[in-house]
Amino acid sequence: GITRHYKFNVVMTKMSCLCSSKPIVTINGRFPGPTIYAREDDRVLIKVVNHVKYNVSIHWHGIRQLRTGWADGPAYITQCPIQPGQNYVYNFTITGQRGTLFWHAHILWLRATVHGAIVILPKRGVPYPFPKPNHEAVVVLGEWWKSDTEAVVNEALNSGLAPNVSDAHTINGHPGPVSNCPSQGGYRLSVAPGKTYMLRVINAALNEELFFKIAGHKMTVVEVDATYVKPFKTDTILIAPGQTTNVIVTADQNFGKYMVVASPFMDSPITVDNVTATATLHYTGALSSAPMTFTSAPPQNGTSVANNFIDSLKSLNSIKYPAKVPKNVDHSLLFTVGLGINPCPTCIPANGSRVVASINNVTFVMPNTALLQAHFFGIKNVFTTDFPGNPSFIFNYTSTLPPPSLATVNGTKLYRLRYNATVQLVLQDTGIIAPENHPIHLHGFNFFAVGKGLGNFNPKTDAKNFNLMDPVERNTIGVPSGGWVAIRFRADNPGVWFMHCHLEIHTTWGLKMAFLVDNGKGPNESLLPPPKDLPKC
Ligand code: C2O
Repeated sequence: GITRHYKFNVVMTKMSCLCSSKPIVTINGRFPGPTIYAREDDRVLIKVVNHVKYNVSIHWHGIRQLRTGWADGPAYITQCPIQPGQNYVYNFTITGQRGTLFWHAHILWLRATVHGAIVILPKRGVPYPFPKPNHEAVVVLGEWWKSDTEAVVNEALNSGLAPNVSDAHTINGHPGPVSNCPSQGGYRLSVAPGKTYMLRVINAALNEELFFKIAGHKMTVVEVDATYVKPFKTDTILIAPGQTTNVIVTADQNFGKYMVVASPFMDSPITVDNVTATATLHYTGALSSAPMTFTSAPPQNGTSVANNFIDSLKSLNSIKYPAKVPKNVDHSLLFTVGLGINPCPTCIPANGSRVVASINNVTFVMPNTALLQAHFFGIKNVFTTDFPGNPSFIFNYTSTLPPPSLATVNGTKLYRLRYNATVQLVLQDTGIIAPENHPIHLHGFNFFAVGKGLGNFNPKTDAKNFNLMDPVERNTIGVPSGGWVAIRFRADNPGVWFMHCHLEIHTTWGLKMAFLVDNGKGPNESLLPPPKDLPKC
């Protein structure tokens, strides 16, 4: 591989959207931010220079960061933030991965506007395991708030209630024309008749899973989260925040214009009213005034559309790209994920209650020192390693009847794994407050999604049906609303690795934890020492 250099200036930029404008935090003045291009085996150096008043840190979502946890990016987990006026060079090598990933700010809610694509091409001379598309395009799905996103989250934290939803979804930064702002253009993807296009679709939205579809065109899914899948055709893809999906589209329809939509999926009693984003697939040469072929978005509670898509995902599992599913399990864990309610003496009005979120009843508290530094330098009293491997009490997780206690325990608790241990983790949704789909993201690893179901996980019967042959491999998985999902991974990456819900408000409320993976004994099994410019807290 070669070394690639990027410079990311974090700056304030005035942007207009939905017929109003506001200053936002961007990288190099762009929303979405610049795409990082690399090949498998390349080393990437990104110098991030902070010119804004906020602390920042950037996460390279899905990059495994083998032994280079210092470059992973989540603030107070693997590094202290880059303070105003400071800079830090993220330095990592892309090993054993190719496909689409993305980068985003990993502090406060800056991810709303600070994100962009990572395109990892196969090694030179290595083809895709499917016919090479004629062209490729990055499609970043996001959200836009007319108000300041930091104000949105602060208001929610002060009241103890849920935050306002965004005003619109976006496709490559644009919502498309809407009734109270018909003049704004939307993203246009120009296609030539008969040609094939690989769309690298990324959900960078803060708080909503999205359906994505194109009028009149089928999509062939070939990759998710930078792992190849068995190709299949679909009208609609489902993509959760933190997930990426590569699809191939052939421009095989009548010459003209076709609507592209990105709309929310809410498998919950909760509904949202933010604007569905639209874009245009435009055959080159078709007049701008040509009529648009419309498509409607799937219903917000379109669970069957969602499940059809999820159940079609299987690892490619070819000779060249085998699915290395751990067959034996050293740690068998069950984590409940969901919302809860804690007393809130400081809320307005005072002595109310606040929504919290937890895993196994632990609401994770962010430390003041980065956990990876505390671990490496042996700094005491920053974290404990008593994160529970099983729920603190057994109850009917998915009923709406309250469990024995609603209050959660606060703590900076880690779960410790020895190097190369194998883990089976069942993520069980709870119906406390409301059942909801939680896209859980694990840093530092890919995992295999070996099983899923509705209701309470039953270790005796459900584990028998696990797919250990060709389960999809990914880094972010939706825990079904009122159900569970089982994943397996091998702890072959020493360091401290964050795991959290990729719905930003749930992370804010505490739906997060971290694994601590010890060094191995071999020569290439230890965390590398920190770089000299690692930020200090
Ligand atoms: Cu994309 Cu910790 O997140």
